[in-house]
Amino acid sequence: MPEPVPPQEELAQRGSAALRAADPELARLLDTEVVQQRATLAMVASTSIADPSVLAAAGSALSNVTAEGYPGARYHPGAAQFDLVERLAVERAKHAFGAVYANVQPHSCSSANQAVLAALVRPGGTILALDLDSGGHLTHGSPASVTGMHYQAVHYGLDSEGRIDYGQVAALAGRHRPSVLIAGASAHPRTLDFARFRAIADSVGAYLVADISHIAGLVAAGEHPTPVDLAHATTTSTYKQLGGPRGGLILIGREHATPGPDGRTPLSRLMQRAVFPLSQGTPNPAAIAAKARALALVAEPAFKETMRLVVDNAAALADALSALGHRVLTGGTDNHMVLIDLTGGAMTGVVAERALEECGILANRNRVPDDTRPPLVTSGLRLGTNILAQRGMGPAAMRSCAALLHRVLEATTVRGEREYVLDAGERDAVRAGVAELCERHPLPPGAVAGVLGDGVLPGLSPAGSGGPAPAAVSGARAGGAA
Ligand SMILES: Cc1ncc(COP(=O)(O)O)c(C=O)c1O
Repeated sequence: MPEPVPPQEELAQRGSAALRAADPELARLLDTEVVQQRATLAMVASTSIADPSVLAAAGSALSNVTAEGYPGARYHPGAAQFDLVERLAVERAKHAFGAVYANVQPHSCSSANQAVLAALVRPGGTILALDLDSGGHLTHGSPASVTGMHYQAVHYGLDSEGRIDYGQVAALAGRHRPSVLIAGASAHPRTLDFARFRAIADSVGAYLVADISHIAGLVAAGEHPTPVDLAHATTTSTYKQLGGPRGGLILIGREHATPGPDGRTPLSRLMQRAVFPLSQGTPNPAAIAAKARALALVAEPAFKETMRLVVDNAAALADALSALGHRVLTGGTDNHMVLIDLTGGAMTGVVAERALEECGILANRNRVPDDTRPPLVTSGLRLGTNILAQRGMGPAAMRSCAALLHRVLEATTVRGEREYVLDAGERDAVRAGVAELCERHPLPPGAVAGVLGDGVLPGLSPAGSGGPAPAAVSGARAGGAA
């Protein structure tokens, strides 16, 4: 007698088959995405590949559970399994980051940041954070974000070498006496000195919030100093470097029992309320299951090895690009990120992004300090090595990646801020190079696999065959702000 298929697996298989039979149009789009991810050199710094077991948990029947509140204190019945899953995710988050408190319910790091700020700053109160153009994030008080509407935001910037200007942070903190100092960045290639940030926060009685959305994997693996015991709250996304689902976390270490602004309520209790009911309603149970799965993988030695490779690769990529004549901001990198400065030339960030995407290379436009071009154009290009390391590529492959990228930019004639002509022969040659690299370094065993066997759908040309560009329909992945 064959073993019965476990219920969740049976459901997933039936779901896949039903999707293909009942909605071939959607199924085909999803299949094409798998093929393209395999055949694309993804260097967007805010992405990683989720293990198929993470994707399975994210698509599980737990999605059908509606339960506001927290384990043991829900506002709906039927949450017994979800309670266990959420507790597991919380324990794994605490273990992965050495935290005393974890909240796994934020739908994203943006939600986590809003919750933390709502807990620690009164409406109209002051926050101090890195300027958007210097690599900060929208949720750190940009006028384009609700955080810029609700709080008085003051921003610090970079010194002449492109590093955080800690002298300015201290001066602005002294002058404006913020309720919260935020340490965190979307586009900063250097190590953040959380101890220094904490000393500045203490000097003015501010809470320190560390936003490690981009570097959470490096922090968990010990490749970047951890802020968890230094900050009063640490926030992160779970998809950028943790190989998790869309979502966020709030973590607290040593400061978990420190009183909040009312002088009484411990920060951990405050954060529970800040997420629900202050800023969110029902949690996403399946996403929380997927976070639990991803956080288990984060604790494994293989994850640490990958993060080591992420850092080594970024350094090698920065060196190779510099050697090819590109201006690398700060002259290199300490983390997963390399920023190319395009100011002073005709090439814009958006043209570089689009020309590269035509060739199967994903990297996103990014503003650079004192950028004079509009946010949708920009004078910078941001690269990241998360997925390259997940593919098992090492520093030698980084030289190939840099050479391919250089070749695309050399073959691109700029005709305007957004307009360009790309030499067709060079485009095809680079596509072939990308295809070869991707074949030599396939995505990790099982990652985005299993749907298609040989990975090519009828009617879809593989990279390098002169057919449609591998990434030609995947512009949604090239978002600039994440
Ligand atoms: C530093 C930083 N914080 C927060 C966010 C928001 O993350 P999420 O996409 O999870 O809302 C991002 C990126 O988007 C980021 O780079």
